[in-house]
Amino acid sequence: MKALVMNCSPVRNGATADIPGQFKAFIDRCTPWCNTHEPHAALSAGKKGYVVALRTGTSMRECQRIFESIEHFYGHLEVECCGSLGLCSVEYKDAVEQRRDEIIEFCNKICAFSEE
Ligand SMILES: Cc1cc2nc3c(=O)[nH]c(=O)nc-3n(C[C@H](O)[C@H](O)[C@H](O)COP(=O)(O)O)c2cc1C
Repeated sequence: MKALVMNCSPVRNGATADIPGQFKAFIDRCTPWCNTHEPHAALSAGKKGYVVALRTGTSMRECQRIFESIEHFYGHLEVECCGSLGLCSVEYKDAVEQRRDEIIEFCNKICAFSEE
């Protein structure tokens, strides 16, 4: 099974910020694996990345900002971003339950890659 990287982030205060602070801290701690400086450690080649963003609001724009930030981060890890899923109008778990088919379809795509 090929390894992959998957990141999931909620939107927090989307009007004023980008990715949540906790996620920013995670990215900062990954600096030793990023190609922003030499020498750096590297993940094994060929890893693919997938992003999930969720928010309570209704438009996809804030999820899009999360995708862009994480794709940028993947670029520094030299991980190819192969898919993203944005879930809007998610306040409670039952909202996710209603999106079950969409989430399963996304996961199946990832499984198909990992079993190649
Ligand atoms: C401090 C805070 C700020 C949030 N800001 C936003 C926001 O700006 N836009 C939005 O759509 N949802 C916002 N949310 C809702 C989260 O995106 C939502 O709860 C998400 O679906 C689930 O994340 P959680 O389980 O980590 O709270 C915010 C939630 C919290 C706790």
